[in-house]
Amino acid sequence: MSLRIAVAGVSLLALAVSACSRNNETPAATQDGAGEEHAAIDASVVTEAAAAWAALADPNERDAFTYANYRDIRVTNVDLDLTVDFEAKVLAGTAELDFERLSDSVNRIILDTNDLTIDLVEARVDDAWITTGYKLTPDDPQLGSSLAINFPDEADRVRINYKTSPGAGGLQWLSPEQTASGEHPFLFSQNQAIYARSMAPVQDTPAVRLTYSARIKTQPELVAVMSAEQDEGPRDGDYSFRMPQPIPSYLLAIAIGDLDFRPIGDHMGVYAESYIVDAATAEFEDTPLMEEAIEQFYGPYLWGRYDMIVLPPSFPFGGMENPRLSFLTPTLVAGDKSLTNVVAHELAHSWSGNLVTNATWRDAWLNEGFTVYVENRTMEALYGEDRAVMERALDLESLKRDVREAERPELTALKMPKDIANPDVPFSQVSYAGGMFFLKFLEERFGREVFDDFLRNYFDNFAFQAISTEDFLAYFAENLWAKNPGAVTKAEIDAWIYEPGLPDTIEAPQSDAFERVAMQQAAWLGGGDVEGIETGAWTTHEWLHFINTLPDDLGTEQMAALDGRFDLSNSQNAEIAFAWYMLAIKGGYEPAIEPLEEFLKRVGRGKFIYRLYQALVDNDRGEWGQSVYQVARPGYHPIAQARIDGIFGDAN
Ligand code: BES
Ligand code: ZN
Repeated sequence: MSLRIAVAGVSLLALAVSACSRNNETPAATQDGAGEEHAAIDASVVTEAAAAWAALADPNERDAFTYANYRDIRVTNVDLDLTVDFEAKVLAGTAELDFERLSDSVNRIILDTNDLTIDLVEARVDDAWITTGYKLTPDDPQLGSSLAINFPDEADRVRINYKTSPGAGGLQWLSPEQTASGEHPFLFSQNQAIYARSMAPVQDTPAVRLTYSARIKTQPELVAVMSAEQDEGPRDGDYSFRMPQPIPSYLLAIAIGDLDFRPIGDHMGVYAESYIVDAATAEFEDTPLMEEAIEQFYGPYLWGRYDMIVLPPSFPFGGMENPRLSFLTPTLVAGDKSLTNVVAHELAHSWSGNLVTNATWRDAWLNEGFTVYVENRTMEALYGEDRAVMERALDLESLKRDVREAERPELTALKMPKDIANPDVPFSQVSYAGGMFFLKFLEERFGREVFDDFLRNYFDNFAFQAISTEDFLAYFAENLWAKNPGAVTKAEIDAWIYEPGLPDTIEAPQSDAFERVAMQQAAWLGGGDVEGIETGAWTTHEWLHFINTLPDDLGTEQMAALDGRFDLSNSQNAEIAFAWYMLAIKGGYEPAIEPLEEFLKRVGRGKFIYRLYQALVDNDRGEWGQSVYQVARPGYHPIAQARIDGIFGDAN
């Protein structure tokens, strides 16, 4: 390790000196007219910082959320052959694994499972399958059970006969009544962060990548799709998939239902139940332009097709970046493309996250922060700076909230501490907006063009790899900072990555539109007539800013005045409705309660419902909230159920 640092150090120094003596374009060089001597001193700052960061990297660190012995032996491919039983809510069949031994002596592979029933394990030796011994450890509520398989030295493949459980954490089975058509059942997976193990026995860590194939047998009237090349054959219930690019297990994904398809352009399209497929296709029609924009910034899209599937409303996320097939909540279909930043986000993961992947969940900001950055650049490219700035300003508000509400200060730095309780902890706005604002800071200091080149090379350099924050820092020091050592200081970078709280180098997005909203709001709060609020062409973002910045103790009369004029309680835009219901709960505004109940029973998106239920509990409406939850719960995803059960304690 130390040898590598020393070598990197030399090349850093050389690079820095030559870059600074060759050109004078970089902001720092222009500012202080740095000559070679200065540059050499500055470059040593970079070298020393790089060495200090490298020393923080623990070469023996393993992903704490897997049982897998992935540093001795690695699964390289899985072939699934599964039959779907909607009655029993079970996937049953086989998983055949190929692997690569990283040390000669290993003849045992440890896999992750969660609620899987293992019926038989075999190993292939000289083309013959032989039954082999295995051991399944007792179930851990979070990590599941490890499956240790012993096999002879000559074995080159392992085959596991297994079944999933009806309560599998990563699978949601919907009855026909829970779908829009009411006629057919629906199944979808949500495997990030560690639920792939409830669908198949795998090394369930982002540090390991595998290719896969799958044969899925289901009812002939249903269509199955996966995060892979789709089956182009007839709708006959027998589907085959192939994923030739290696992906981390959390990107293994499946959805099955009565799906229609509409193309958007030559290699994109939308899958959805028929009730929403045309509306969704119109809503997402700009996606090809988004892809073009990102390709221009950061290089080619490397995954072949890009399709989207609109899932039933119980999908617990806004979107999930399953490769070749993003999964999306129907709440994005607002009618005016106002929420399509989520599409830009999931598409952007095709570079940040799916191509360059966080090695452990402690480094989640490498996935999510980079993705919010690329998302925001994409929105700017398509819809202009005003919209991008508004989206960043809204992000900053929620970042401040999450920093304020963090359980402990260590959770407000980009690099998450070693002892995070579970892999969902890193997915707060700290990783998302915090990561984005950090990259904005670098963009601002190094200049957009230079920074874009750097990012393009970064995606290229680490494509199909898993990396840590420290790998990023080493690459950054050598390939960006060394070219302009005066642009940032180590202390500034450390404040973002390792130190709690919001760094003082964070951008404060200045939105003229939001300032105008604030003026309207102030005039009204200062005693003006509600009819005087000029909302003219307010976009969703302006509405969100208006509602989110209203005082918590606005008072029911004022709320009624707003509602009377703008009918916010019945807003069909899920983000606006959510923001309004939060205010209504805090302010005890009764007329919003009935529509809120309807919303909670219809929508299962965690971003909305976790905070709504929590607000009900915090504002003396816990009992009512719980009675609504009791009715809504069967319709929610297992992930959402577990979260909200936590909000109401043991009572459910
Ligand atoms: N990868 C995430 C969703 C996720 C995170 C699932 C952690 C499971 C564990 C996805 O890309 C995402 O970030 N979705 C956001 C949308 C985005 C615009 C912030 C969401 O669902 O709200
Ligand atoms: Zn994301």
